Amino acid sequence: MSLKETLLRKIEEHRPRTTRLLKEYGSTKVQETTIEQVIGGARGIRSLVTDISYLDPFEGIRFRGKTIPETFECLPKVPGCDYPYVEGFFWFLMTGDVPTLEETLEVVEEFKKRRALPQYVVDILRAMPTDTHPMTMFSAGILAMQRESLFVKRYNEGMKKTEYWEPMLEDVLNLLPKLPTLAAYIYRMKYKADIHIPADPNLDFGGNFAHQMGFAKPYDDVARMYFILHSDHESGNVSAHTTHLVASALSDAYYSLSAGMNGLAGPLHGLANQEVLSWMMKFQEKLGGQEPTQELVKQALWDTLNAGQVIPGYGHAVLRKTDPRYMAQREFCLNNLPDYPLFKVINMVFEVAPGVLTEHGKTKNPWPNVDAQSGVIQWYYGLTEWDFYTVLFGIGRAIGVLSNITWDRALAYPIERPKSLTTAMLEEVAGIKS
Ligand SMILES: CC(C)(COP(=O)(O)OP(=O)(O)OC[C@H]1O[C@@H](n2cnc3c(N)ncnc32)[C@H](O)[C@@H]1OP(=O)(O)O)[C@@H](O)C(=O)NCCC(=O)NCCS
Repeated sequence: MSLKETLLRKIEEHRPRTTRLLKEYGSTKVQETTIEQVIGGARGIRSLVTDISYLDPFEGIRFRGKTIPETFECLPKVPGCDYPYVEGFFWFLMTGDVPTLEETLEVVEEFKKRRALPQYVVDILRAMPTDTHPMTMFSAGILAMQRESLFVKRYNEGMKKTEYWEPMLEDVLNLLPKLPTLAAYIYRMKYKADIHIPADPNLDFGGNFAHQMGFAKPYDDVARMYFILHSDHESGNVSAHTTHLVASALSDAYYSLSAGMNGLAGPLHGLANQEVLSWMMKFQEKLGGQEPTQELVKQALWDTLNAGQVIPGYGHAVLRKTDPRYMAQREFCLNNLPDYPLFKVINMVFEVAPGVLTEHGKTKNPWPNVDAQSGVIQWYYGLTEWDFYTVLFGIGRAIGVLSNITWDRALAYPIERPKSLTTAMLEEVAGIKS
């Protein structure tokens, strides 16, 4: 059965569950909301639904019910490689089923047919000032392709609501494979003398990305691992929520993903991986050749906090323990670059920062998140231009958020519209007399 046929079966099985919840239990209370949650960025307010991933504060992420190690274990692997096909992972996120090798290879071939970048996108990228941030280029490239949307075409022809998911899926299948091509083009244009590498028709999503970036093995596995780890973190984070929110207006996949990427570009979200590397480099500069020690790391962390800045790569809005995505990358480092000096410094920060943040007493979670470890791996394999790191995150994040908005249309989730209150209304709720 093809991906589309499998998805149709899954959607038809799922729809009655949502309909029943709405019809029979629509007025059942989920939780009560406090003033702190209302002012505090909707933290912990349960108002989103997704079956693609779930984030437990203490266990971390599960994709379709599986932990990160289980996910890596169960999916078909690229021959001679340690990590699974991204294409198989996409099937898994979309359908909830672990694909066979044959099913995976079907997506691999489908993606190959759709990965070429339109010339007008190249022209737009080339027209941008050379100091434009790569995330701006990435988002602009995605947005520029909006004219390709089949969802828009079918919508204008007057398709039925129950069919919305089909052209959404088509748009997703057209857009996702172009993202590594777009990213590699930006990278080579900005940092590699504008010399580009043509796609290799024999390679998969991760393998061809490594090839077009110009990085030798095992960077293909680094790319696969990275994209899978960064794909989804349930719906409430800024990039996933933005993509979902914009899509809820029936904006197509191009509009929605571009918007999500703009959120990912913020320093409190995806840009933190760039900030981690920049922090590390400044720290090493300060050391001036001295061997780093726990004392020196501690001092540098306090200097950052005392300057009123956050320690990048630490803390999380939901997690309350070390991020398993951090641990998965740490394991990769222990297997592949255990003696790399920068990895040793990262480890030292891992040993010291939670204590410093606890003593500082502000953050609810003093443990590292995904961004604390990812840059060192890129740096080790030669990707030292750290302002590109969020683009890598963006390719991965697209896999999750695009799967989510396909399901949004399948389950007919409505336009999102939370209610706001005035400060005076909150004061009244609190019983404050003016
Ligand atoms: C991720 C993050 C934005 C979550 O924010 P949050 O949900 O508001 O986190 P908390 O509830 O723990 O924040 C409470 C306080 O601790 C501070 N805090 C949280 N993480 C901190 C960190 N890493 N360094 C210093 N202070 C931190 C917050 O800024 C906040 O301070 P305030 O009361 O003065 O505003 C936050 O932890 C952060 O800024 N981390 C660094 C950036 C980062 O790594 N981002 C990637 C996330 S995957």
